[in-house]
Amino acid sequence: MHLTKRFKGLPACLAILLCIAFQPIASGQVPATPAWAKETAAAKEKRMQWWTNDRFGMFIHWGLYALPARHEWVQNRERITPQDYKKYFDNFNPDLYDPKQWAKEAKAAGMKYVVLTSKHHEGFCLWDSKYTDYKVTNTPYGKDLLKDFVDAFRAEGLKIGFYYSLIDWHHPDFEMDGSHPPTPVDKAERAKANETRDMKKYQEYMKNQVTELLTKFGKIDQLFFDFSYNGKQYKEWDSENLLKLVRKLQPDVIVNDRLGFPVEAGWGWDYKTPEQFMPKEWVKVGGQKVPWETCQTFSGSWGYYRDEYSWKSPEQLIVMLIETVSKGGNLLLNVGPTARGNFDERASDRLAAMGKWMHFNSRAIYGCTEAPDTYQRPANTMLTFNPTTKRLYIHVMQWPFKTLLLEGYKDLIKYAQILEDASEVKFSTNTRSGGHTTETSGANDVMLHLPVRKPNSAIPVIELILN
Ligand code: GLC
Repeated sequence: MHLTKRFKGLPACLAILLCIAFQPIASGQVPATPAWAKETAAAKEKRMQWWTNDRFGMFIHWGLYALPARHEWVQNRERITPQDYKKYFDNFNPDLYDPKQWAKEAKAAGMKYVVLTSKHHEGFCLWDSKYTDYKVTNTPYGKDLLKDFVDAFRAEGLKIGFYYSLIDWHHPDFEMDGSHPPTPVDKAERAKANETRDMKKYQEYMKNQVTELLTKFGKIDQLFFDFSYNGKQYKEWDSENLLKLVRKLQPDVIVNDRLGFPVEAGWGWDYKTPEQFMPKEWVKVGGQKVPWETCQTFSGSWGYYRDEYSWKSPEQLIVMLIETVSKGGNLLLNVGPTARGNFDERASDRLAAMGKWMHFNSRAIYGCTEAPDTYQRPANTMLTFNPTTKRLYIHVMQWPFKTLLLEGYKDLIKYAQILEDASEVKFSTNTRSGGHTTETSGANDVMLHLPVRKPNSAIPVIELILN
């Protein structure tokens, strides 16, 4: 009753939907912050400092689904039975797997951290877990994949993150629901099938596996749990104890927000994860700006998808990175390696193009964030700002003709240059009057004088060294 009141005034169907979505977080069910989870805002900021600074990471989705090459949810979408799905396990043999090459490409693209699917929803594990047979070491490939992966990325100086799926379509104790592949559709039949499934045992399994992931591969910097939904929230996963274990094993690890803790609880996550979605502004919770990272794909699917043709252009991806940082967020950009174990050409080309841009312009990304309100955003641009060096970056989406008007910037700028070649950009005030001009710039405005020819960068950046 109190739930429907909460959404009074909304159309009935919307109110009902919201009620369903909010059901598990009704007041009275909010778990209080346990003592072990208490942390000051300053301590959290310090723990997350590298991540906030680095801004750009690589997501990697790799598993058996690389073989069908038709989306990582293929087992569910096509209702494939475990017996039929087994052919992918029996043929998993990525002979071209070379994590050093992956790490090189990630680094060259300007990425500073990586998050790999250690286990996705299909339940297949990329490491030699003691707790399952459904793992890489039992496929024709026969070797653990994670160890070499971690070593290769660390050697290139990238921070290491693991994705771990809470959902598991293979585990015999994971309670079936609508998202499970050939689950009985009939509810009564499903309930019957679930009689032998024991989520308590599955919770134990997850804790055992997470323990392996956090004890066998050295320092783990980030964990991405995936995901909670109506019907499976923090209680079903035993998220409180899972997170307690994580914090015990790796106190500094940064953890995402998909363990299903109610948002009102105010604990249980470090950052928000808008997925394949660009927020209109800095993500807020309870009116407060919070750390956030958008995870994005090249083409829509996370796993390798041979016949998907909706690939974003390099320029779109660069703009996506800039836009994310201009709103105070991080970008986790996904690659889905093939079943041979390589990045396909479409992915490598895009990574290279981003790397080309980053080579000259990364100063406008690392350590940067949303610009303070003092700096008005000129037409066709996005702004990023480095609060430590006090430099403002104007990312010019559409190169203008000769001038760029900066309204209200008088006395704010010490020096201006095009970032890619550090060539001076002259600026002046009151330059629009006279001749055939039709307007006069305001007394507080500044005019940047730009070359007519657009600089080489896909998106050129003007660096303002501020007073
Ligand atoms: C979703 C999907 C999954 C993907 C993830 C990435 O939760 O289920 O396939 O791994 O998003 O954030």
